[in-house]
Amino acid sequence: MLLRISPSMRSITISSSYGVLDSMKVKVCARPLSYRTIFYTILALTFLFPFAFILTAVVTLEGVDECSSLDCLGRRLGPKFLGRGTGDSARLIRDLYEILNQVDSKEFPAELMLPGSFSEFLSEVKNNQHDMKTFAIFLKATMEQMDMEVKRSKLAEQLNKHFAAGAIPKGIHCLSLRLSDEYSSNAHARKQLPPPEMLPLLSDNSFQHFVLSTDNVLAASVVVNSAVRSSSRPEKTVFHLITDKKTYPAMHSWFALYPPSPAIVEVKGVHMFDWLTRENIPVLEAIETHHAVRNHYLGNHVKGTNVSDDPRIFASKLQAKSPKYISLLNHLRIYLPELFPNLNKVIFLDDDIVIQHDLSPLWNINMAGKVNGAVETCRGEDKWVMSKHFRTYFNFSHPVISENFNPDECAWAYGMNIFDLSAWRKTKIRDIYHYWLKENLKSNLTLWKFGTLPPALIAFRGHIFPINPSWHMLGLGYQEKTDLDRVKKAAVIHYNGQCKPWLEIGFKHLQPFWTKHVNYSNDFIRNCHILDPEEYKQDRA
Ligand SMILES: *[C@@H]1O[C@H](CO)[C@@H](O)[C@H](O)[C@H]1NC(C)=O
Ligand SMILES: *[C@@H]1O[C@H](CO)[C@@H](O)[C@H](O)[C@H]1NC(C)=O
Ligand SMILES: *[C@@H]1O[C@H](CO)[C@@H](O)[C@H](O)[C@H]1NC(C)=O
Ligand SMILES: *[C@@H]1O[C@H](CO)[C@@H](O)[C@H](O)[C@H]1NC(C)=O
Repeated sequence: MLLRISPSMRSITISSSYGVLDSMKVKVCARPLSYRTIFYTILALTFLFPFAFILTAVVTLEGVDECSSLDCLGRRLGPKFLGRGTGDSARLIRDLYEILNQVDSKEFPAELMLPGSFSEFLSEVKNNQHDMKTFAIFLKATMEQMDMEVKRSKLAEQLNKHFAAGAIPKGIHCLSLRLSDEYSSNAHARKQLPPPEMLPLLSDNSFQHFVLSTDNVLAASVVVNSAVRSSSRPEKTVFHLITDKKTYPAMHSWFALYPPSPAIVEVKGVHMFDWLTRENIPVLEAIETHHAVRNHYLGNHVKGTNVSDDPRIFASKLQAKSPKYISLLNHLRIYLPELFPNLNKVIFLDDDIVIQHDLSPLWNINMAGKVNGAVETCRGEDKWVMSKHFRTYFNFSHPVISENFNPDECAWAYGMNIFDLSAWRKTKIRDIYHYWLKENLKSNLTLWKFGTLPPALIAFRGHIFPINPSWHMLGLGYQEKTDLDRVKKAAVIHYNGQCKPWLEIGFKHLQPFWTKHVNYSNDFIRNCHILDPEEYKQDRA
């Protein structure tokens, strides 16, 4: 038998020339107690029974710091368990070995209560003076249970990796890398956007201004392409694209090389806005460092996921835990009046939408002093997508919520909103937003689940101007039974939900509305083998 423990004790390798052929690798992040238990159990049992059922086990643990040396393990398990005690205990182990070899797993009584942890196992053994055979059965059953548990987490781990990789498709990642590369090697990719003579147009209120914040170049290109194609006045259109520092070179390259003329595009990274400082957005850092947020987004993704889940549900759960939901790009829209101090009106777009009709009429709507032109989501033909009230988003068992809000109040949607920034500047919307973010952090995130909509629902109360639902159709990312006729007629379709059109889990019959705005003859897109749903379908068929 071979036993190797890494210096930090984060990983242990056990190889044995006996026993059932098996091999496993388990990697665990962030304090999972049950795995530490498995670790100790495997270790102890390997010492006890050199013929352990596990031929090779590699258990990797991170964040284990309480017990960091063999010595400490020895103390924990007691000298007898390590077989270093008297000759008696050495003989005991030999006898156990013999008996255990005779025990067949079929002998496990169904009512046998197995311990959940190694310490339970120890106290069970201490408290009940089992005879040797009972003890052996008990031990073997426990071991097999632990073995099963390790196998299950191994499986979950593999699934997890598979779907996590699918969440950022290779093609989109490749596109971003190649465009970044282009930025450093090709002067055309670096040319100023828009050209200097057009800079004044960026704050010209006779133009239609669209704001889009995303780190997905392909999605941004679809939004911009579809908007330009459907616009009756593309030459009077300005797109303000905001991305993160990492994606900036790629995003800039794309729109510098393929400007959607005659529309005007500006690309900015969050690092280029002087206004976005810690003093102005104090809560964001707090959100990212809050322990509950960290646990939810950065913790062990295997925990809470179910190996027997449908792959689409499994992937959705993983996606919902993506750290991108706490990023600044997501909260950015609450700072529009400050980010665009000279503009009076903007339309803010999500990156998972497609524009199918001219949106110019939205600019002429009289919003009667309201700030946010949005589609209300509490009534509509689709009973599932359009049945959202405050009670959908908030925890009304919490007194802070129930004392301040009405569960029946209608909700509205982000995705395509027309914002009257002049009216907004006269309100305290941002302060209210910050106040409630802090309240939720103070109450350990029990006021609402994650996301940027709930605090916005509160902050924009009384400032909503309901627009006709045909302007913005929701649910294409979580609803397979979407009405295709309505999809064709809607001005903007929104793939909200986890099944984004650029993911493998996207609904195949809804993807063409999105992919028809992807230019598959473009070299970057071709060379990155970005999924063409038609070819993909044929491959699979
Ligand atoms: C996992 O899913 C199966 C079937 O859907 C269900 O029976 C089981 O209780 C679930 N387990 C957990 C831990 O949610
Ligand atoms: C929030 O959770 C932490 C750790 O779980 C706990 O110490 C603290 O008391 C909780 N605070 C509230 C207000 O529940
Ligand atoms: C809702 O609030 C109650 C009261 O504070 C709390 O006990 C409960 O855990 C909260 N529910 C969720 C899902 O956070
Ligand atoms: C697609 O990309 C190619 C190459 O970049 C370009 O020549 C062509 O005009 C583009 N087509 C459309 C419809 O944008």
